Amino acid sequence: MRRTRTNDAIRRLVAETRLGPQDFIWPLFVKDGTGAREPIAAMPGVDRLSVDLIVEEAKRAQDLGIPAIALFPQTDPARKDAQGSEALNPDNLVCTATRAVRAACPELVILCDAALDPYTDHGHDGLLADGRILNDETVEMLKRQAVVQADAGCDTISPSDMMDGRIGAIRQALDEAGHQNVRIISYAAKYASAFYGPFREAVGSASALTGDKRTYQMDPANGDEALREVAKDLDEGADMVMVKPGMPYLDIVRRVKDAFGAPTYAYQVSGEYAMLAGAIQNGWLDRDRAILEALLCFKRAGADGVLTYFAREAAELLAAR
Ligand code: PBG
Repeated sequence: MRRTRTNDAIRRLVAETRLGPQDFIWPLFVKDGTGAREPIAAMPGVDRLSVDLIVEEAKRAQDLGIPAIALFPQTDPARKDAQGSEALNPDNLVCTATRAVRAACPELVILCDAALDPYTDHGHDGLLADGRILNDETVEMLKRQAVVQADAGCDTISPSDMMDGRIGAIRQALDEAGHQNVRIISYAAKYASAFYGPFREAVGSASALTGDKRTYQMDPANGDEALREVAKDLDEGADMVMVKPGMPYLDIVRRVKDAFGAPTYAYQVSGEYAMLAGAIQNGWLDRDRAILEALLCFKRAGADGVLTYFAREAAELLAAR
């Protein structure tokens, strides 16, 4: 076996998997203001950015060959309520950023989450009654949220709420609003995970969150159930599907890709970023090699691409090679 590992040339020739900037979707956090940049404590190297700086990052993504970004808002607590009404405001942070990026980068793929958690004062992705999530009432909100985001120029809605039946409902709402060409990338197999902690700090939903999300996000114990989730979402009209988190769930990525062959993405979530970035910061891991190995392995597991906070760094590393 070692004859095909002798040097870099032969290793490149026999490599089964390749990693490039085209594999990345780059999540960005939007905040109020102008020229504003604010570090996120649990995500060293990632900042919340005002809309003008988001546009600069979007242009950088394009220059580096990264085809897609995903936008997440840190909503002013004064704008949050139990219904997450701010999600429907066409001038909210995500819509404002989407319009600005769309104007500057007409071809860039822009993902916007359909979920209420950045907007609710209780931090849940859906509407609550007596402490329980209301499925169908939430789906009604998500339909309107998706249309508002598509109106702003979002071309790829990413439902991350895990309500039942939301993909079909959002598809129909988009079609009826004239957005037949707006795609849906479904967070189809999304687990109730401890690894979302830094993200919730970044969007400011952590302090608000009461309880946990285990009545809608999946139990990490389950794999077969992920296939049933993905089957339903594809059946309801999802164009692309996602597995989330990433690294502890590579078995799910492989099973989903093998079972359906649909465009399949993994989300290397905030907690995975924090683990790697923290160890790199301490000098415990080699930065360049750890980042690229982690991302390459998503592709080997069957992912067509990865949502990663390392997208810019990884694309720069790959360009320098
Ligand atoms: C919101 C949402 C979450 C993430 C993406 N969209 C958090 C959650 O479900 O609690 C997590 C992303 C990350 O941790 O990087 N529904």
